[in-house]
Amino acid sequence: MSSSTTTKGGRASSLSTGVESPGRAAVGARTLRTDRWWLQPAATFAFLSAWVIYATVRVCVHNSYWVAKDHYLTPFYSPCLTKSCTPDSALFGRPFPNFPIIIPFAILTLIFLLGFRMTCYYYRKAYYRSFWGSPPACAVAEPHKKYTGETRFPLLVQNSHRYFFYAAGLISVINTIDLVESYRYGLGLGNIIMLVNVLGLWAYTASCHSCRSLMGGRLNHFSKHPIRYRLWTQVTKLNGKHMELALGTLVTLAVTDGYIALVAAGAFADPRIIS
Ligand code: FES
Repeated sequence: MSSSTTTKGGRASSLSTGVESPGRAAVGARTLRTDRWWLQPAATFAFLSAWVIYATVRVCVHNSYWVAKDHYLTPFYSPCLTKSCTPDSALFGRPFPNFPIIIPFAILTLIFLLGFRMTCYYYRKAYYRSFWGSPPACAVAEPHKKYTGETRFPLLVQNSHRYFFYAAGLISVINTIDLVESYRYGLGLGNIIMLVNVLGLWAYTASCHSCRSLMGGRLNHFSKHPIRYRLWTQVTKLNGKHMELALGTLVTLAVTDGYIALVAAGAFADPRIIS
């Protein structure tokens, strides 16, 4: 099998790579693992697929996204920017005309959020393994004959992750403004669910590898930069939970959206603690 690999200088060479490359043990079987190695990629595939289907349907239905009485706006529609948005839900105005049904009201932010998650180090590992089988698990040969990694288009764009990080930080600010705005109208179960979601989103964003690099990168001596060292230490602790935060925030996003959708549709009233 002939394919390319990356040299020390970052350029692709024509050396053979992969499990059949020279010097590797000739193992006929795809893997010698006897445990249920396929379970994790299969579960990841099912979870991410279900979430994407749910999110796609929700951002395209264009209803049940805003609870006027309690001022709850689902994160899937924040910020609501088109003329179709209920005026009170559009905290940042409605500069765009009506969108066709397949275009989400919050298209501008959703593009950046999608970019942020798609280029995230954890998600890359998750979907490379579970959707592309590249490789499906440790010590399991991948089905592809060629591997060029992320050195060429289209996967080269994964390197844009640090820019999406800044955009995601800005969008977390917008989610926080939505949350603060909702507290001006009292306190209910919905506020608490939104709070958990916003805290999760901040923790996920702060645990990003780009954030860690921003805090502690390009320094020769931590001792000369005690504040950055302290920030880097805290981000490093969060970074160790990056996978959990990446998956957990998908859950909190869906729960927040689902709860607001049900209240907005009149399925039940939001239990109020302070009206
Ligand atoms: Fe996952 Fe940056 S590495 S969000």
